[in-house]
Amino acid sequence: MTTRRHRMLAATLVAAMLLPGVSDAQRTRRPRARPASRNDASADSVVLERRAARIADSLLARMTLDEKLGQLTQSPAGYGQTGPTVDAAGEKDVREGRVGAFLSLYGADVVRKMQRIAVEESRLKIPLLFGYDVIHGMRTIFPVPLGESASFDSVAAARSARIAAIEGTAMGVNWTFAPMMDIARDARWGRIVEGSGEDPYLGGVLAAARVRGFQGDRLRAPDALLATAKHFAAYGAAEAGRDYNVASIGERQMFEVYLPPFQAAVRAGVGSVMASFNEIDGTPAHASHWLLTDILRDRFHFDGLVVSDWTGVWELLNHGIARDSATAAKRALGAGVDMEMSSTLYRSTLAAEVKAGRFPLARVNEAVRRVLHAKAVLGLFEDPYRQISPEREARDLLTAEHRAAAREIARESIVLLTNRSVNGAPALPLRKDLRSLAVIGPLADDAQSAIGPWSGAGRAADAISTLEGIRKALPNTRIIHARGAPVDTESTAGFGEAMRAARDADAVLLVLGERGDMTGEASSRASIELPGSQLALAQAVVRSAGPGKPVVAVLMNGRPLAVQWLADSTSALVESWFLGVEHGNALADVLFGDFAPSGKLPVTFPRATGQVPIYYAHKQTGRPADPNNHYSSKYLDLPWTPLFPFGHGLSYTTFSYANLLVSSGSVRAGDPLVVSVGVTNSGKRAGTEVVQLYLRHDAASVTRPVRELHGFQRVTLRPGESRTVRFVLDPGDFALYDLDLRRVVEPGTYTLWAGGSSEATVSAEVTLTGATKVLAPAPPRMR
Ligand code: NOJ
Repeated sequence: MTTRRHRMLAATLVAAMLLPGVSDAQRTRRPRARPASRNDASADSVVLERRAARIADSLLARMTLDEKLGQLTQSPAGYGQTGPTVDAAGEKDVREGRVGAFLSLYGADVVRKMQRIAVEESRLKIPLLFGYDVIHGMRTIFPVPLGESASFDSVAAARSARIAAIEGTAMGVNWTFAPMMDIARDARWGRIVEGSGEDPYLGGVLAAARVRGFQGDRLRAPDALLATAKHFAAYGAAEAGRDYNVASIGERQMFEVYLPPFQAAVRAGVGSVMASFNEIDGTPAHASHWLLTDILRDRFHFDGLVVSDWTGVWELLNHGIARDSATAAKRALGAGVDMEMSSTLYRSTLAAEVKAGRFPLARVNEAVRRVLHAKAVLGLFEDPYRQISPEREARDLLTAEHRAAAREIARESIVLLTNRSVNGAPALPLRKDLRSLAVIGPLADDAQSAIGPWSGAGRAADAISTLEGIRKALPNTRIIHARGAPVDTESTAGFGEAMRAARDADAVLLVLGERGDMTGEASSRASIELPGSQLALAQAVVRSAGPGKPVVAVLMNGRPLAVQWLADSTSALVESWFLGVEHGNALADVLFGDFAPSGKLPVTFPRATGQVPIYYAHKQTGRPADPNNHYSSKYLDLPWTPLFPFGHGLSYTTFSYANLLVSSGSVRAGDPLVVSVGVTNSGKRAGTEVVQLYLRHDAASVTRPVRELHGFQRVTLRPGESRTVRFVLDPGDFALYDLDLRRVVEPGTYTLWAGGSSEATVSAEVTLTGATKVLAPAPPRMR
């Protein structure tokens, strides 16, 4: 469309939207005037907000009930030979105002086509939302979120989200179902790969950064994506790590562990929230008024759009809390789910319920207003096409700049787990002048796995596999490649070839783990050991390599794996996750020493599956584990400690800590506290350390975790260089939920630790004096 025609259409649309006449009954809970994005607090944005409200009012006054229910419906796209598509029935739905949004429809041409039908051929000309799971990149694929979280770098997280938004919007998407911020402490749960791991503080910092990255400075900018905080809530607490399962947790865990990242995302201005599949204490999240309204709206002051998960409304029938579709629809919309994804119960049942007086029209109007408001803040009423064009699509995807960012972020995400000495020197980095290198394992040449699950519009063909990255980095080395074993079956047919390669080469690289599709949705595993015959392969290869030869194991995986044997018996162990399109290049940068690793584990690695759930911020118990006390909290057959703790990660240099100081040894409860610690690069090369600060309330009115993360900073130091790192602890850092679930700061003693992992030992104490300070009243009780 020409710019002139486009402007005329926009003017007509806006004029049409601004007609007066909405009844008071329709003026229910309106989105409050808030900046259209967190960073857009200008007077201009208040004007835009008012305009959005007027557009919604005006439309609501003219919509039929069926059109309203259409706005609350999100339809999935089909997939044809040329990519995502909508069939004739879908087009007719748009024309007739029976759909407000599409899911998984992307591509400049097809999106423009559907939007044109909506804004030119439907009665009210309301533009469509186009939602998609842009999780860790659209075409330029970044590390999976769990991997990226190992960077402990909020700037990196915001940057990858920004680039994903630029590319996603270029392909017509205006709404992403990300970031996922479910705290996950059970590695069997396959969706652990999509989040930031086990820690609410880290999860909150990264969730906020990703929201800012996706949404940019102004949501109405053509390269901004409406972000979604998901899955609300406690989906990561799935019992036994089995996807979609019940979350057996209480209110305290909800507030202490599972909700903080959501609150951080709301504070960062997230535009939408997705309900989670699980039930909590008798009520599925999709039907929980307590969760979606009492907490999300009234306590967190979220005023955006709540979307169901895929068929989440319909699934209320399976949950056994609705006998028929109409009841399921009424329970979900009544609880606070504004838009229904994929199933169409709202559209098919609610008109009759409203007409018969069995469901309030006001709640329908409120939900429609949220949908229209989201469309307005995205600027869709001014420019429904958001400057999407095949030219922009061709220009903005997988650019050299985006690839460079992907490589930088991927390098930061790699975690060096062990690095032993071989012939008097650390096994890593490997020398670049190796005459020969055996690259062994089923994942070494797997470019599809490199881009991991939820890979948007990413393509394996764009990705650099481990093998390719190594070949490029070592052009003069003979690379002997042997797959050795399949990923997840028991065959040993390739062992002989792999063993010969290990025997003949100067050094060995074992690339083991899981395929990209072995984590993600519906990808829970009952065992988190290395699948198939891979462990046996590793054992055969180490035997065949013999002593004095470096055998480096590299893991590719989206969850912690129980790899005790590898940790004990290889020369070095590297966690590379699924690093995205630059996987092999980034890994080679680390393996051959061009980049000193700085990643830290965002999640605890157990020794064996039987230890899960395992996480550092556990409660002490009345019988803390004690090797000298049989009757203490431990196992008969395994140590109670993890294989690798949260926050662990080595570099090619070492760091030492000293002088953890507090601004005052005693402060009034409710006052801030400045903490500083000296960190020194005590090794021989430059490196980056993630300095971590942990805190424990020593004796409180309720039990507290043994320690919790309350700050981290990435610090780059030259050899011998020291730096004093400062943290400011706010009252909220000292707060707990008391017996009444009030958020309070209690007087008492607190211990602080600073260091390079959750096992940091440099400590200090501070006493909070005075009376208990109430930061927030008790929330409404779960019901
Ligand atoms: C189901 C998943 O749970 C959710 O995370 C995703 O956004 C939707 N499907 C849409 O793909």
